Amino acid sequence: MIEWDALYKVSLGLYVLGANDGERPAGSIVDAVMIAANKPCALALSCGNLSFTKSCIEKTKQFSLSVLPKDIDPFVVANFGFQSSKNVNKWDNVEHGSLNNLPVLRNALAHITAKVLTSYPLESNTVFIAEIDQAINVRDADNLLYEDYRNYFKNDVIKTFQQYMKEKANG
Ligand SMILES: Cc1cc2nc3c(=O)[nH]c(=O)nc-3n(C[C@H](O)[C@H](O)[C@H](O)COP(=O)(O)O)c2cc1C
Repeated sequence: MIEWDALYKVSLGLYVLGANDGERPAGSIVDAVMIAANKPCALALSCGNLSFTKSCIEKTKQFSLSVLPKDIDPFVVANFGFQSSKNVNKWDNVEHGSLNNLPVLRNALAHITAKVLTSYPLESNTVFIAEIDQAINVRDADNLLYEDYRNYFKNDVIKTFQQYMKEKANG
């Protein structure tokens, strides 16, 4: 038996994942991230197999993570989590900079870049183990947790996305 209410008790944060598709940056929202080792300093990231960002990471073997603050604009989560980089330049919609040539969110608490050491394919996801090459503490504040998203933030994100799609359709 697998009770998801049990698995939700494993605390996770929310991050914007960044990667490059040639010259164009791609990105998505991820929660499935953990610091996996300190020698080498490494993290584990799990990407859905249908994610375009995942295919970019497989090609370039590198990615960035931007740690989201609790007061993040819900549009950021909608922008990166509810549409695919395959058809949208998501980074054009948010203020961003670059670290090691990878896109990072301006309003994040921390910026991390990593290089893939190995990956493990599962039916739904691919788990990357990656060595951290840079981790910058941008500012100190509370970070957004996946449980915040589920408990109270999700509705705002959905409403913001609906509004964005409406405005897009009306030109
Ligand atoms: C709250 C939340 C958490 C998510 N967690 C993950 C995750 O851990 N791994 C993942 O690959 N996708 C995750 N997703 C889904 C991707 O962000 C989503 O499928 C995105 O549209 C993929 O974009 P891409 O095709 O540009 O990569 C999450 C989405 C949301 C809204």
